[in-house]
Amino acid sequence: MTHTQSQFIDFRSDTVTQPTPEMRRAMAEAPVGDDVHGEDPTINRLQEMAAERLGKEAALFVPSGTMGNLAAILTHCNRGDEAIMGNLSHTFRFEAGGCAALGGVNPFVIPNLPDGTLDLDDIRNAIRDKADVHYPTTRLVILENTHNWTGGMPLTAEYTCQVGDLAHQNGLLLHLDGARIFNAAAALDVTVRELAQPADSVTFCLSKGLCAPAGSVLCGSAEFIARATRIRKQLGGGMRQVGILAAAGIISLEVMANRLQEDHVRAARLSAGLHGLKGLELEKEKPATNILFFRLSPDLPHTSGEVAAMMEQRGVLIDTDGPRRIRLVTHNDIDDQGVETALKAFRTIFA
Ligand SMILES: Cc1ncc(COP(=O)(O)O)c(C=O)c1O
Repeated sequence: MTHTQSQFIDFRSDTVTQPTPEMRRAMAEAPVGDDVHGEDPTINRLQEMAAERLGKEAALFVPSGTMGNLAAILTHCNRGDEAIMGNLSHTFRFEAGGCAALGGVNPFVIPNLPDGTLDLDDIRNAIRDKADVHYPTTRLVILENTHNWTGGMPLTAEYTCQVGDLAHQNGLLLHLDGARIFNAAAALDVTVRELAQPADSVTFCLSKGLCAPAGSVLCGSAEFIARATRIRKQLGGGMRQVGILAAAGIISLEVMANRLQEDHVRAARLSAGLHGLKGLELEKEKPATNILFFRLSPDLPHTSGEVAAMMEQRGVLIDTDGPRRIRLVTHNDIDDQGVETALKAFRTIFA
């Protein structure tokens, strides 16, 4: 079934956000050119802004976060190389195995801890002995900030530095899937530049909490971005008058990045309202950013799919992860009233 914005309060993801009226106006008026020739002035402006914000030399607009991560992995790694990543990372769980299927890159999966991090010893132990021909060559470590599937957990700059140091001391590179790095910066009250500093490359998404209709940006050194641009072309991600999308992305950076704390406050209010309801167990005492998960108690007779269907009848859409786990995500299109409506609906089910 498809859902339109007007009918439902949609907590399934921040990917469902509508572009703002200001974005739509900017899109209509954006000067554009052929971006494959580097001639789209609006794309060029967005890329310069993004590189500056993230503290990297250069940036590249890509159609999606998935392509940004894949282009980074393919740029850093050769076939037969290995990338260390979390078992709950988006790159491992939700990118259709692209790094293996398209890059011949082997994922070495280690557990994500409940705070979204990877244990430093687990990373250390996953690094292969270069001299042994039995092994793939370890090339890359991937972190995710915020970490979606552990509950939108922000990774600190200090932790990211520790992983960066460990990677670099062992001749490895660090890629940061910063799909929601602006949420992390807002939650930690630091700049995205500080969070990105230890990473050799960073992807961030314009089309989640930042509300652009599409697009992500891959950032790194000028040399890395030059190579990634060729990979993007191979992946079919070289687009033409795509400044129309970049115009929205510029508003994402200039305007929408400054309001994310509102979403975090609403997620906290939602969580507080769910506290104590019989039949559900919140995974975290309080959400760190805009994502919260809860589990259905073993004695609750309903599956998460059934709960989602009951919520839908009450005008609220929610996300499920297997039969007993539910995810709620706040974003620009959910206001205080939306939170209240959702809580009212939850109270009728978990009375
Ligand atoms: C952490 C994370 N990384 C990457 C992506 C991929 O982004 P896209 O949907 O634009 O491919 C997502 C999407 O939800 C995500 O949550």
